[in-house]
Amino acid sequence: MSYVTAMSISYPPGLRELLEELETFGEHNDATTTDRASRMLNITPDTGAFLAVLVRSMAARNILEVGTSNGYSTVWLASAAAAVGGRVTTIDVNARKTELATHNLRRAGLERVVELHTGDAGVLLARGAAGHWDLIFLDADRKPYAAWWSDLWRGLRPNGLLVVDNAVSHAAEMEPLLERIRQEPGAAHVLVPVGKGELMVLKGTA
Ligand SMILES: C[S@@+](CC[C@H](N)C(=O)[O-])C[C@H]1O[C@@H](n2cnc3c(N)ncnc32)[C@H](O)[C@@H]1O
Repeated sequence: MSYVTAMSISYPPGLRELLEELETFGEHNDATTTDRASRMLNITPDTGAFLAVLVRSMAARNILEVGTSNGYSTVWLASAAAAVGGRVTTIDVNARKTELATHNLRRAGLERVVELHTGDAGVLLARGAAGHWDLIFLDADRKPYAAWWSDLWRGLRPNGLLVVDNAVSHAAEMEPLLERIRQEPGAAHVLVPVGKGELMVLKGTA
């Protein structure tokens, strides 16, 4: 359960309505489909507001999202990125979902702020340049997280931030990743009880 019940944030015209429409769509879709791949599994609205505050306070310019779904969280990240001259790269393995995300980002007027990829995030992370990302938001299938750790860590810039969703809702599945984080010199982590639980990992210097 979230302790943050009322986070107020200012929205560009029309954005709040679009976010609310996507929230209603996601809730209805996920309640009526049994096929996991067809579920949107969106972050909670307070997690969206939390991410937007992080992006703006860090003036994050290079943001990576792993797990786009239909672009609900991407809209939150991208609207905050647009306010500080940043950009979002986002990736999802499911082509139907990236099609939906393309449509939703266009509706939000944010398509120019976002580079959208369809494919396996592990490949993108392995090919990425060192020290590039200010902020990485991780919200995908949790099984490969621990195996991705060295590429996630390498990709973050010094004092960059990794935020991992579902750290409370799926705490047991997060353990292998946490084990890697605990062993990493310079990694400072804190669990923030917003939404489904956000694990924040700061790339400090050892
Ligand atoms: C929880 S949903 C993302 C929800 C999205 N962040 C939001 O709040 O709107 C997880 C997504 O990760 C995608 N995914 C799972 N494994 C992946 C992988 N290895 N690479 C890229 N995307 C992956 C799934 O297709 C799914 O759409």
